[in-house]
Amino acid sequence: MEDFDVVVLGAGAAGMMCAIEAGKRGRSVLIVDHAKAPGEKIRISGGGRCNFTNLNAAPENFLSTNPRFCISALRRYTQRDFIRLVERHGIAYHERTLGQLFCDGSSRQIIDMLVKEMREADVTLRLATQVGKVDRAGEGFSVSLTTGSLATGDIRCRSLVVATGGKSIPKMGATGFGYELAAKFGLPLVETRPALVPLTFEARTLERLKELSGIAVDAVVGCGKTRFSEAVLFTHRGLSGPAILQISSYWREGQEISVSMLPGIDVFERLKAARAQNGRQALQTALSAYLPKRLAQHIAEQENGAGNLADFSDKDLRGIAAAVNEWRIKPAGSEGYRTAEVTLGGVDTQALDSRTMQARTIPGLYFIGEVVDVTGWLGGYNFQWAWSSGWSAGQAA
Ligand code: FDA
Repeated sequence: MEDFDVVVLGAGAAGMMCAIEAGKRGRSVLIVDHAKAPGEKIRISGGGRCNFTNLNAAPENFLSTNPRFCISALRRYTQRDFIRLVERHGIAYHERTLGQLFCDGSSRQIIDMLVKEMREADVTLRLATQVGKVDRAGEGFSVSLTTGSLATGDIRCRSLVVATGGKSIPKMGATGFGYELAAKFGLPLVETRPALVPLTFEARTLERLKELSGIAVDAVVGCGKTRFSEAVLFTHRGLSGPAILQISSYWREGQEISVSMLPGIDVFERLKAARAQNGRQALQTALSAYLPKRLAQHIAEQENGAGNLADFSDKDLRGIAAAVNEWRIKPAGSEGYRTAEVTLGGVDTQALDSRTMQARTIPGLYFIGEVVDVTGWLGGYNFQWAWSSGWSAGQAA
Protein backbone atom coordinates (compact mmCIF):
# COMPACT_ATOMS: atom_id res chain seq x y z
CA MET A 1 0.00 0.00 0.00
CA GLU A 2 1.36 3.39 -1.02
CA ASP A 3 1.72 5.93 1.75
CA PHE A 4 1.71 9.73 1.44
CA ASP A 5 1.65 12.46 4.03
CA VAL A 6 -0.92 14.36 1.98
CA VAL A 7 -3.38 13.33 -0.74
CA VAL A 8 -5.11 16.16 -2.59
CA LEU A 9 -8.28 15.29 -4.51
CA GLY A 10 -8.66 17.62 -7.51
CA ALA A 11 -5.84 19.21 -9.52
CA GLY A 12 -7.58 22.53 -10.05
CA ALA A 13 -6.50 25.95 -8.85
CA ALA A 14 -6.93 25.32 -5.12
CA GLY A 15 -5.62 21.74 -5.15
CA MET A 16 -2.42 22.60 -7.02
CA MET A 17 -1.67 25.57 -4.76
CA CYS A 18 -2.15 23.39 -1.68
CA ALA A 19 0.02 20.59 -3.10
CA ILE A 20 2.83 23.04 -3.87
CA GLU A 21 2.83 24.49 -0.38
CA ALA A 22 2.61 21.13 1.42
CA GLY A 23 5.38 19.80 -0.86
CA LYS A 24 7.59 22.80 -0.09
CA ARG A 25 7.22 21.94 3.59
CA GLY A 26 8.76 18.54 2.91
CA ARG A 27 5.51 16.55 2.95
CA SER A 28 5.14 13.70 0.49
CA VAL A 29 2.19 14.78 -1.63
CA LEU A 30 0.01 12.98 -4.16
CA ILE A 31 -2.51 15.01 -6.16
CA VAL A 32 -5.10 13.17 -8.24
CA ASP A 33 -7.71 14.23 -10.78
CA HIS A 34 -10.10 12.28 -12.95
CA ALA A 35 -9.46 14.69 -15.82
CA LYS A 36 -6.71 14.05 -18.37
CA ALA A 37 -5.09 17.44 -17.70
CA PRO A 38 -4.66 19.59 -14.61
CA GLY A 39 -6.36 22.97 -14.24
CA GLU A 40 -8.96 22.63 -16.98
CA LYS A 41 -11.03 25.50 -15.58
CA ILE A 42 -7.95 27.70 -15.44
CA ARG A 43 -7.42 26.91 -19.12
CA ILE A 44 -10.87 28.12 -20.19
CA SER A 45 -11.06 30.99 -17.72
CA GLY A 46 -11.08 34.64 -18.66
CA GLY A 47 -11.73 33.84 -22.31
CA GLY A 48 -8.44 31.87 -22.42
CA ARG A 49 -6.42 34.59 -20.66
CA CYS A 50 -7.27 33.70 -17.03
CA ASN A 51 -8.40 36.56 -14.84
CA PHE A 52 -6.12 35.15 -12.15
CA THR A 53 -6.75 37.65 -9.37
CA ASN A 54 -8.11 41.09 -8.58
CA LEU A 55 -6.05 43.99 -7.24
CA ASN A 56 -8.94 44.96 -4.95
CA ALA A 57 -9.78 41.52 -3.55
CA ALA A 58 -11.19 41.91 -0.04
CA PRO A 59 -13.64 39.96 2.13
CA GLU A 60 -16.51 42.23 0.95
CA ASN A 61 -16.23 40.65 -2.50
CA PHE A 62 -17.26 37.20 -1.28
CA LEU A 63 -20.62 35.62 -0.45
CA SER A 64 -20.89 33.09 2.36
CA THR A 65 -23.28 32.21 5.15
CA ASN A 66 -20.41 33.40 7.35
CA PRO A 67 -18.94 36.43 5.56
CA ARG A 68 -16.04 36.61 8.04
CA PHE A 69 -14.76 33.11 7.31
CA CYS A 70 -12.65 34.13 4.30
CA ILE A 71 -10.79 36.93 6.11
CA SER A 72 -7.97 34.84 7.56
CA ALA A 73 -6.99 33.01 4.35
CA LEU A 74 -7.27 36.15 2.20
CA ARG A 75 -4.93 37.93 4.63
CA ARG A 76 -2.45 35.09 4.87
CA TYR A 77 -2.07 34.74 1.10
CA THR A 78 -3.04 37.90 -0.72
CA GLN A 79 -3.42 38.91 -4.35
CA ARG A 80 0.02 40.54 -4.05
CA ASP A 81 1.53 37.19 -3.09
CA PHE A 82 0.04 35.56 -6.17
CA ILE A 83 1.13 38.46 -8.39
CA ARG A 84 4.70 37.99 -7.08
CA LEU A 85 4.54 34.31 -8.05
CA VAL A 86 3.30 35.21 -11.55
CA GLU A 87 6.08 37.80 -11.91
CA ARG A 88 8.74 35.36 -10.67
CA HIS A 89 7.73 33.08 -13.55
CA GLY A 90 8.04 35.95 -16.02
CA ILE A 91 4.35 35.85 -17.02
CA ALA A 92 3.27 39.15 -18.55
CA TYR A 93 -0.12 40.45 -17.43
CA HIS A 94 -2.34 43.50 -17.61
CA GLU A 95 -5.19 45.10 -15.73
CA ARG A 96 -8.47 45.34 -17.65
CA THR A 97 -11.15 47.05 -15.60
CA LEU A 98 -11.96 47.16 -11.91
CA GLY A 99 -8.63 45.68 -10.82
CA GLN A 100 -9.01 42.50 -12.90
CA LEU A 101 -5.62 41.00 -13.85
CA PHE A 102 -5.31 38.85 -16.99
CA CYS A 103 -2.38 37.11 -18.69
CA ASP A 104 -1.17 38.96 -21.79
CA GLY A 105 -0.61 35.58 -23.43
CA SER A 106 -2.57 32.50 -22.43
CA SER A 107 -4.11 30.96 -19.32
CA ARG A 108 -1.92 27.93 -20.02
CA GLN A 109 0.98 29.96 -18.60
CA ILE A 110 -0.70 29.85 -15.18
CA ILE A 111 -1.20 26.07 -15.44
CA ASP A 112 2.42 25.58 -16.57
CA MET A 113 3.58 27.73 -13.66
CA LEU A 114 1.65 25.65 -11.13
CA VAL A 115 2.78 22.35 -12.68
CA LYS A 116 6.41 23.53 -12.59
CA GLU A 117 6.05 24.57 -8.96
CA MET A 118 4.55 21.17 -8.14
CA ARG A 119 7.46 19.41 -9.84
CA GLU A 120 9.97 21.49 -7.90
CA ALA A 121 8.15 20.64 -4.67
CA ASP A 122 8.31 16.89 -5.52
CA VAL A 123 4.55 16.54 -5.78
CA THR A 124 3.28 13.40 -7.54
CA LEU A 125 0.54 14.23 -10.04
CA ARG A 126 -1.77 11.39 -11.13
CA LEU A 127 -4.29 12.24 -13.85
CA ALA A 128 -7.15 10.24 -15.41
CA THR A 129 -7.59 8.75 -11.96
CA GLN A 130 -10.95 7.90 -10.47
CA VAL A 131 -11.41 8.28 -6.75
CA GLY A 132 -13.35 5.42 -5.20
CA LYS A 133 -13.92 4.72 -1.51
CA VAL A 134 -12.53 7.11 1.05
CA ASP A 135 -12.38 5.92 4.66
CA ARG A 136 -10.88 6.86 7.97
CA ALA A 137 -7.84 4.63 8.64
CA GLY A 138 -6.38 5.11 12.10
CA GLU A 139 -5.39 8.77 12.42
CA GLY A 140 -5.39 9.19 8.65
CA PHE A 141 -7.37 8.06 5.62
CA SER A 142 -7.43 5.36 2.99
CA VAL A 143 -8.40 6.27 -0.56
CA SER A 144 -8.97 3.77 -3.35
CA LEU A 145 -7.86 4.97 -6.76
CA THR A 146 -8.17 3.65 -10.30
CA THR A 147 -5.94 5.06 -13.00
CA GLY A 148 -7.27 4.20 -16.46
CA SER A 149 -8.41 0.61 -16.02
CA LEU A 150 -5.69 -0.05 -13.46
CA ALA A 151 -6.82 -0.17 -9.83
CA THR A 152 -3.92 1.36 -7.92
CA GLY A 153 -5.24 -0.09 -4.70
CA ASP A 154 -5.68 1.78 -1.49
CA ILE A 155 -3.47 4.73 -0.73
CA ARG A 156 -2.92 5.82 2.84
CA CYS A 157 -2.40 9.39 3.91
CA ARG A 158 -2.27 11.41 7.09
CA SER A 159 -4.01 14.44 5.56
CA LEU A 160 -6.71 14.39 2.92
CA VAL A 161 -7.46 17.63 1.10
CA VAL A 162 -10.71 17.89 -0.87
CA ALA A 163 -10.32 20.34 -3.75
CA THR A 164 -12.82 18.92 -6.22
CA GLY A 165 -14.53 22.26 -6.95
CA GLY A 166 -18.21 22.97 -7.52
CA LYS A 167 -20.87 21.66 -9.88
CA SER A 168 -20.59 24.21 -12.66
CA ILE A 169 -19.86 23.00 -16.20
CA PRO A 170 -20.42 19.26 -15.66
CA LYS A 171 -19.22 18.75 -19.24
CA MET A 172 -15.73 19.63 -17.98
CA GLY A 173 -15.71 17.05 -15.20
CA ALA A 174 -17.39 18.97 -12.39
CA THR A 175 -19.02 16.63 -9.88
CA GLY A 176 -20.72 16.85 -6.53
CA PHE A 177 -18.00 14.58 -5.15
CA GLY A 178 -16.69 17.01 -2.53
CA TYR A 179 -20.16 17.60 -1.11
CA GLU A 180 -20.84 13.87 -0.93
CA LEU A 181 -17.57 13.30 0.88
CA ALA A 182 -18.34 16.09 3.35
CA ALA A 183 -21.75 14.54 4.02
CA LYS A 184 -20.18 11.11 4.48
CA PHE A 185 -17.98 12.53 7.23
CA GLY A 186 -20.97 14.24 8.83
CA LEU A 187 -20.10 17.83 7.85
CA PRO A 188 -23.01 20.22 7.25
CA LEU A 189 -23.63 21.67 3.79
CA VAL A 190 -25.12 24.98 2.69
CA GLU A 191 -27.55 24.47 -0.18
CA THR A 192 -25.84 24.84 -3.53
CA ARG A 193 -27.05 26.82 -6.56
CA PRO A 194 -25.55 28.08 -9.80
CA ALA A 195 -23.99 31.56 -9.54
CA LEU A 196 -22.30 34.01 -11.92
CA VAL A 197 -24.81 32.75 -14.44
CA PRO A 198 -27.01 34.33 -17.16
CA LEU A 199 -30.65 34.86 -16.17
CA THR A 200 -33.54 33.65 -18.30
CA PHE A 201 -37.07 34.95 -19.05
CA GLU A 202 -40.31 33.05 -19.38
CA ALA A 203 -41.63 32.48 -22.91
CA ARG A 204 -43.93 35.53 -23.14
CA THR A 205 -41.27 38.02 -22.01
CA LEU A 206 -38.76 36.33 -24.25
CA GLU A 207 -41.08 36.69 -27.22
CA ARG A 208 -41.28 40.43 -26.52
CA LEU A 209 -37.53 40.91 -25.97
CA LYS A 210 -35.91 38.42 -28.32
CA GLU A 211 -35.44 41.06 -31.02
CA LEU A 212 -32.95 42.72 -28.68
CA SER A 213 -30.64 39.69 -28.59
CA GLY A 214 -27.02 40.79 -29.05
CA ILE A 215 -27.47 44.34 -27.75
CA ALA A 216 -25.18 45.45 -24.89
CA VAL A 217 -25.67 48.52 -22.70
CA ASP A 218 -23.97 49.95 -19.62
CA ALA A 219 -26.25 49.72 -16.61
CA VAL A 220 -26.52 49.59 -12.87
CA VAL A 221 -28.23 46.31 -12.04
CA GLY A 222 -29.78 45.85 -8.62
CA CYS A 223 -31.45 43.17 -6.53
CA GLY A 224 -32.47 44.06 -2.99
CA LYS A 225 -29.73 46.34 -1.66
CA THR A 226 -27.00 45.01 -3.94
CA ARG A 227 -25.92 46.96 -7.03
CA PHE A 228 -23.41 46.32 -9.80
CA SER A 229 -22.42 48.81 -12.44
CA GLU A 230 -21.20 47.04 -15.57
CA ALA A 231 -22.42 45.95 -19.00
CA VAL A 232 -25.70 44.07 -19.60
CA LEU A 233 -26.21 41.90 -22.66
CA PHE A 234 -29.59 40.88 -24.11
CA THR A 235 -29.45 37.22 -25.19
CA HIS A 236 -31.87 34.87 -26.93
CA ARG A 237 -32.65 33.35 -23.51
CA GLY A 238 -32.71 36.44 -21.32
CA LEU A 239 -29.95 38.63 -19.91
CA SER A 240 -26.22 38.16 -19.51
CA GLY A 241 -23.11 40.35 -19.32
CA PRO A 242 -20.97 41.06 -16.24
CA ALA A 243 -23.59 43.06 -14.31
CA ILE A 244 -26.15 40.26 -14.69
CA LEU A 245 -23.66 37.51 -13.78
CA GLN A 246 -22.78 39.49 -10.64
CA ILE A 247 -26.39 40.03 -9.58
CA SER A 248 -27.27 36.37 -10.27
CA SER A 249 -25.36 35.41 -7.11
CA TYR A 250 -27.78 37.55 -5.07
CA TRP A 251 -31.02 36.97 -7.00
CA ARG A 252 -33.55 34.34 -5.92
CA GLU A 253 -36.57 32.95 -7.83
CA GLY A 254 -39.57 35.24 -7.62
CA GLN A 255 -37.50 38.42 -7.14
CA GLU A 256 -37.36 41.35 -9.50
CA ILE A 257 -34.13 42.92 -10.65
CA SER A 258 -33.74 46.56 -11.59
CA VAL A 259 -31.76 47.50 -14.68
CA SER A 260 -30.90 51.19 -14.77
CA MET A 261 -29.65 51.78 -18.28
CA LEU A 262 -27.66 54.95 -19.02
CA PRO A 263 -26.49 55.42 -15.43
CA GLY A 264 -25.69 59.06 -14.75
CA ILE A 265 -27.99 60.26 -17.53
CA ASP A 266 -31.39 61.58 -16.46
CA VAL A 267 -33.40 60.46 -19.48
CA PHE A 268 -36.48 62.46 -18.45
CA GLU A 269 -34.49 65.71 -18.40
CA ARG A 270 -32.83 64.86 -21.72
CA LEU A 271 -36.16 64.09 -23.41
CA LYS A 272 -37.73 67.24 -21.99
CA ALA A 273 -34.82 69.32 -23.30
CA ALA A 274 -35.06 67.61 -26.70
CA ARG A 275 -38.80 68.32 -26.81
CA ALA A 276 -38.18 72.00 -26.04
CA GLN A 277 -35.55 72.19 -28.77
CA ASN A 278 -37.31 70.23 -31.49
CA GLY A 279 -40.84 69.02 -30.73
CA ARG A 280 -41.14 67.41 -34.16
CA GLN A 281 -38.39 64.90 -33.44
CA ALA A 282 -39.62 61.28 -33.14
CA LEU A 283 -39.29 59.77 -29.66
CA GLN A 284 -37.34 56.87 -31.08
CA THR A 285 -34.82 59.25 -32.68
CA ALA A 286 -34.42 61.18 -29.43
CA LEU A 287 -33.78 57.93 -27.52
CA SER A 288 -31.33 56.63 -30.08
CA ALA A 289 -29.03 59.54 -29.27
CA TYR A 290 -28.26 57.56 -26.08
CA LEU A 291 -29.25 53.95 -26.76
CA PRO A 292 -28.55 51.43 -29.54
CA LYS A 293 -31.08 52.05 -32.31
CA ARG A 294 -32.90 48.71 -31.99
CA LEU A 295 -33.30 49.18 -28.25
CA ALA A 296 -34.52 52.78 -28.68
CA GLN A 297 -37.10 51.58 -31.18
CA HIS A 298 -38.21 48.74 -28.91
CA ILE A 299 -38.67 51.04 -25.91
CA ALA A 300 -40.57 53.58 -27.99
CA GLU A 301 -42.90 50.83 -29.26
CA GLN A 302 -43.43 49.31 -25.81
CA GLU A 303 -44.25 52.71 -24.37
CA ASN A 304 -46.74 53.50 -27.16
CA GLY A 305 -44.29 56.14 -28.18
CA ALA A 306 -44.95 56.24 -31.93
CA GLY A 307 -45.10 59.96 -32.29
CA ASN A 308 -43.22 63.23 -32.00
CA LEU A 309 -41.81 64.48 -28.72
CA ALA A 310 -44.36 67.33 -28.73
CA ASP A 311 -47.13 64.71 -28.42
CA PHE A 312 -45.89 63.63 -24.98
CA SER A 313 -46.71 65.22 -21.64
CA ASP A 314 -44.16 65.37 -18.82
CA LYS A 315 -45.94 62.40 -17.26
CA ASP A 316 -45.56 60.40 -20.50
CA LEU A 317 -41.89 61.31 -20.72
CA ARG A 318 -41.35 60.27 -17.10
CA GLY A 319 -42.86 56.85 -17.89
CA ILE A 320 -40.65 56.44 -20.95
CA ALA A 321 -37.58 57.56 -18.99
CA ALA A 322 -38.38 55.01 -16.27
CA ALA A 323 -38.30 52.22 -18.87
CA VAL A 324 -34.67 53.23 -19.49
CA ASN A 325 -33.44 54.49 -16.12
CA GLU A 326 -35.49 52.16 -13.90
CA TRP A 327 -36.44 49.08 -15.90
CA ARG A 328 -37.71 46.35 -13.57
CA ILE A 329 -37.98 42.75 -14.70
CA LYS A 330 -38.61 39.39 -13.03
CA PRO A 331 -36.33 36.69 -14.43
CA ALA A 332 -37.84 33.20 -14.55
CA GLY A 333 -34.62 31.37 -13.73
CA SER A 334 -30.99 30.97 -14.71
CA GLU A 335 -29.12 28.97 -17.32
CA GLY A 336 -28.03 26.63 -14.50
CA TYR A 337 -24.80 24.74 -13.97
CA ARG A 338 -24.38 24.28 -17.72
CA THR A 339 -23.01 27.83 -18.03
CA ALA A 340 -22.59 29.03 -14.42
CA GLU A 341 -19.05 30.09 -13.60
CA VAL A 342 -19.32 29.01 -9.99
CA THR A 343 -21.41 27.23 -7.36
CA LEU A 344 -22.84 29.17 -4.48
CA GLY A 345 -23.01 27.34 -1.14
CA GLY A 346 -21.10 24.16 -0.32
CA VAL A 347 -19.31 22.84 2.75
CA ASP A 348 -20.56 24.92 5.68
CA THR A 349 -17.72 27.10 6.96
CA GLN A 350 -18.91 26.50 10.52
CA ALA A 351 -17.44 23.03 10.20
CA LEU A 352 -13.99 24.33 9.14
CA ASP A 353 -11.13 26.14 10.80
CA SER A 354 -10.75 29.44 8.93
CA ARG A 355 -6.95 29.49 9.33
CA THR A 356 -6.24 26.00 8.00
CA MET A 357 -9.49 24.86 6.28
CA GLN A 358 -9.36 21.71 8.42
CA ALA A 359 -12.63 20.07 9.43
CA ARG A 360 -13.14 20.74 13.12
CA THR A 361 -14.54 17.29 13.87
CA ILE A 362 -12.29 15.24 11.55
CA PRO A 363 -8.61 16.09 12.10
CA GLY A 364 -6.61 15.67 8.90
CA LEU A 365 -9.54 16.36 6.55
CA TYR A 366 -9.42 19.67 4.66
CA PHE A 367 -11.76 21.42 2.20
CA ILE A 368 -10.49 24.21 -0.06
CA GLY A 369 -11.57 26.29 -3.06
CA GLU A 370 -15.01 26.33 -4.58
CA VAL A 371 -16.33 23.28 -2.68
CA VAL A 372 -16.44 25.51 0.42
CA ASP A 373 -19.33 27.92 1.02
CA VAL A 374 -17.29 30.94 -0.09
CA THR A 375 -18.10 32.42 -3.50
CA GLY A 376 -16.43 35.42 -5.06
CA TRP A 377 -17.71 38.09 -7.36
CA LEU A 378 -16.87 37.98 -11.03
CA GLY A 379 -13.42 39.44 -11.72
CA GLY A 380 -10.64 37.15 -10.47
CA TYR A 381 -12.00 36.82 -6.94
CA ASN A 382 -12.79 33.11 -7.22
CA PHE A 383 -9.26 32.23 -8.23
CA GLN A 384 -7.94 34.38 -5.38
CA TRP A 385 -10.08 32.34 -2.98
CA ALA A 386 -8.68 29.14 -4.52
CA TRP A 387 -5.07 30.41 -4.09
CA SER A 388 -5.66 31.73 -0.55
CA SER A 389 -7.57 28.74 0.81
CA GLY A 390 -5.21 26.31 -0.97
CA TRP A 391 -2.15 28.06 0.41
CA SER A 392 -3.58 28.09 3.95
CA ALA A 393 -4.34 24.36 3.91
CA GLY A 394 -0.90 23.75 2.40
CA GLN A 395 0.72 25.24 5.53
CA ALA A 396 -1.11 22.78 7.78
CA ALA A 397 -1.75 19.52 5.91
P1 FDA B 1 -11.68 23.52 -9.94
O1 FDA B 1 -13.00 23.28 -10.54
O2 FDA B 1 -10.74 24.45 -10.60
O3 FDA B 1 -10.90 22.14 -9.77
C1 FDA B 1 -11.53 20.98 -9.30
C2 FDA B 1 -10.80 19.79 -9.88
O4 FDA B 1 -11.32 18.61 -9.28
C3 FDA B 1 -11.01 19.65 -11.38
O5 FDA B 1 -9.76 19.51 -12.00
C4 FDA B 1 -11.88 18.39 -11.52
O6 FDA B 1 -11.58 17.66 -12.69
C5 FDA B 1 -11.50 17.62 -10.28
N1 FDA B 1 -12.55 16.71 -9.81
C6 FDA B 1 -13.86 16.98 -9.63
N2 FDA B 1 -14.50 15.88 -9.20
C7 FDA B 1 -13.57 14.90 -9.12
C8 FDA B 1 -13.62 13.53 -8.74
N3 FDA B 1 -14.77 12.94 -8.36
N4 FDA B 1 -12.48 12.80 -8.78
C9 FDA B 1 -11.32 13.38 -9.17
N5 FDA B 1 -11.20 14.68 -9.54
C10 FDA B 1 -12.32 15.43 -9.50
N6 FDA B 1 -12.62 32.61 -11.74
C11 FDA B 1 -11.79 33.66 -11.70
O7 FDA B 1 -11.37 34.06 -10.61
N7 FDA B 1 -11.39 34.27 -12.87
C12 FDA B 1 -11.81 33.85 -14.10
O8 FDA B 1 -11.39 34.38 -15.13
C13 FDA B 1 -12.74 32.78 -14.14
N8 FDA B 1 -13.26 32.35 -15.33
C14 FDA B 1 -14.10 31.29 -15.36
C15 FDA B 1 -14.63 30.86 -16.59
C16 FDA B 1 -15.46 29.76 -16.65
C17 FDA B 1 -16.07 29.35 -17.96
C18 FDA B 1 -15.76 29.04 -15.45
C19 FDA B 1 -16.63 27.81 -15.47
C20 FDA B 1 -15.25 29.46 -14.23
C21 FDA B 1 -14.42 30.59 -14.16
N9 FDA B 1 -13.91 31.06 -12.95
C22 FDA B 1 -13.08 32.14 -12.93
C23 FDA B 1 -14.18 30.33 -11.68
C24 FDA B 1 -12.97 29.44 -11.34
O9 FDA B 1 -12.66 28.65 -12.45
C25 FDA B 1 -13.26 28.55 -10.13
O10 FDA B 1 -13.75 29.31 -9.07
C26 FDA B 1 -11.99 27.82 -9.70
O11 FDA B 1 -11.52 27.03 -10.75
C27 FDA B 1 -12.23 26.97 -8.47
O12 FDA B 1 -11.05 26.30 -8.17
P2 FDA B 1 -11.09 24.88 -7.47
O13 FDA B 1 -9.68 24.40 -7.46
O14 FDA B 1 -11.82 24.95 -6.20
O15 FDA B 1 -11.96 23.96 -8.43
